[in-house]
Amino acid sequence: MNLSQKEKYQQTEQDIDLYVEAHTSPEPDYLKEVFRNTNLFTINPRMMSGHLQGRLLKMLVELTGAKKIIELGTFSGYSALAMAEGLPQDGRLTTIEINDEMEDFIRRQFATASHGKKIDLIIGDALQIIPTLTDSYDIAFIDADKRLYWQYVEALIPHLHINSLIIADNTLWDGKVLISNPSPADRQTHSIKSFNDRIAADPRFEPVMLPLRDGLTLIRLVTKL
Ligand SMILES: C[S@@+](CC[C@H](N)C(=O)[O-])C[C@H]1O[C@@H](n2cnc3c(N)ncnc32)[C@H](O)[C@@H]1O
Repeated sequence: MNLSQKEKYQQTEQDIDLYVEAHTSPEPDYLKEVFRNTNLFTINPRMMSGHLQGRLLKMLVELTGAKKIIELGTFSGYSALAMAEGLPQDGRLTTIEINDEMEDFIRRQFATASHGKKIDLIIGDALQIIPTLTDSYDIAFIDADKRLYWQYVEALIPHLHINSLIIADNTLWDGKVLISNPSPADRQTHSIKSFNDRIAADPRFEPVMLPLRDGLTLIRLVTKL
């Protein structure tokens, strides 16, 4: 069978993904279980971080010595658990999810994993919840509504300190950020493009965009002024 150029490219991409995972520290069994449950019982499992990104998030928590983390967009709890794994025993992670239909599922995943004890789940709209929080966070993982990333950053800044790390997921948005004139109806692409441009131009931030998975931008808060 002759493979088309596109098929060959996709095959190479899949082979690279397998190679990368094989040369990354293994996914722990409890996260394999969350991955499996998410695939079995949720409609859009592609939203979940998964093995490679999960290991990177855990390592970033450990390397920064973070003790307080906030996550916007819990979905099935995979990324929250991966980050909680990197926290010390007295560390806390607050995660906010708007979809109350996911609550029972998420709480079950947190209850069966030992690091779940470090996590506080809040069901609600992140933009409404953030101003009610009183903590300061070392890491903020932004992975909720793609149309609101800039508003999330602005709302989070009072709860961050110099050198806090903001991690924004899906910043390549399936490559659509390269479209120069996205359809006016495609608000997510417009918003992610505008978010990326604003973060890159704003002297308060030092961003590094990683072409990992769907794009993961690491943003150091340099100044609040
Ligand atoms: C991409 S998924 C999160 C995936 C998860 N962080 C992971 O990596 O495994 C995005 C989630 O954000 C939630 N979400 C969307 N808008 C939100 C909002 N305004 N506040 C809180 N959560 C929101 C969605 O319901 C969805 O579960």
